[in-house]
Amino acid sequence: MTQTLSNSIAQRDIKFQLHSQTNPRRFEEQGPLVVTRGEGVRVFDSAGKAYIEGMAGLWCATLGFSNERLIAAANAQYHEIAYYHTFFQRTGPGATDLSEKLVELTGMEGGKTYFATSGSEANETMVKLAWIYHTVHGKPAKRKVIARNRGFHGSTIAAASMCGLEFMHREFGLPLPGFLHTLAPYPYREMCEGEDEGAYVERLAEELEQLILSEGPDTVAAFIAEPVYAGGGIIVPPSGYFPRIQDVLNKYDILCLDDEIVCGFGRTGEWFGKDLVGMKPDMMALAKGLSSSYFPISAVVLSPKIYGAVAEFNNQGGAFGHGFTNSGHPVGVAVASEAIKIYEELGMPDHVKKVGKHLRARFEKTAETSLIVGEVRGAGLMLGIEIVKDKTTREPFPASKQVGAMFDRIAYKNGLIARCMGDVLGFAPPLILTEEEADELADIFDKSLKELEGELGV
Ligand SMILES: Cc1ncc(COP(=O)(O)O)c(C=O)c1O
Repeated sequence: MTQTLSNSIAQRDIKFQLHSQTNPRRFEEQGPLVVTRGEGVRVFDSAGKAYIEGMAGLWCATLGFSNERLIAAANAQYHEIAYYHTFFQRTGPGATDLSEKLVELTGMEGGKTYFATSGSEANETMVKLAWIYHTVHGKPAKRKVIARNRGFHGSTIAAASMCGLEFMHREFGLPLPGFLHTLAPYPYREMCEGEDEGAYVERLAEELEQLILSEGPDTVAAFIAEPVYAGGGIIVPPSGYFPRIQDVLNKYDILCLDDEIVCGFGRTGEWFGKDLVGMKPDMMALAKGLSSSYFPISAVVLSPKIYGAVAEFNNQGGAFGHGFTNSGHPVGVAVASEAIKIYEELGMPDHVKKVGKHLRARFEKTAETSLIVGEVRGAGLMLGIEIVKDKTTREPFPASKQVGAMFDRIAYKNGLIARCMGDVLGFAPPLILTEEEADELADIFDKSLKELEGELGV
């Protein structure tokens, strides 16, 4: 990245911009990677160097970085009406069409769609809706939310409180009271010796039940989870996990909130992650792939019983006291509708299954001979590779070595943007990736891993 320091954008950026999830002092020394252009699955920096974007930006540019149909859809909508809102009984045809489409696509029969702008807003909206639901059902004390260790749900205050990652809490004195965390399903690291998957799932369900009982079931409103962990290390739960967890939730009248912000729209090889893992949510939060992030738009799809509660709460004439200026923005809904049309035309979930299988097979082949690949895991085009010091004992490298960050640095140099989560190397490329591009990605991965092994002296 230092090559960009002579660039005045880099110098001015150091002077003026505060960056998300970036160490300020390191940034002052190293400066930004200035990304100027995108084409298909690639982005280009200010020096003209190309990178395969192995993370689709932030798991979001599902249709790559230059989709002409999405650009045209935005452009056409800007010419119709460049802004309007969905407060006070108003809508545009696009918001109506998309709300219908999302109810149909998610299988939330009889449900409704609520629009917001970001993933964090969608997740917080689900929490507020859960509070209304329980209040209407005579249980206003049901306020607490149980999330899971390692989960990521966003950066606004309640969404960050639901994250199960220390780095989202430590600067801010979070989580807020009433936001609790239960164990992560993380078989590679946390299944005990001699424990099979069934027993592991049972232990996780028992731990959840104990937490509910110790807090008081009448104080717990909802449970939130990503079907497959994204930022927490790309982890697929053991089979039977969600159905068993759901038994516990049902027993204590606790709503199930599904954070599909990364998993939705084909990322896992299914339309939605819930279908991969057998989750039956009361509400779903959608963002990122909803519009391939060509416009900031998110949505909550809610089941009829949740809508019924909102209507009932306001049956004396009050208005649902919630909303974002850009909820149902006409350009956002136009782009999202076009994105969904493209997913349908391409048969995106099946394409992802096929290319994901191909990429995974390449990673697994490398894992056979590498001394430091402990596990290759994931679903569809959401793949994680856990680096370890010892494959047999699964001993990690000392955290101070930052092997994940070492890999990212080497991969950058070789023209691949990856994303380490600790010592897990993450890959979530644009879903339009072809098998040839997957091979290219895997070739750069192999080369970078060899260089990493060289630096580590293994
Ligand atoms: C699973 C998940 N949920 C929620 C969010 C938050 O979305 P946003 O940054 O749009 O608020 C993210 C962002 O990466 C995410 O990965």
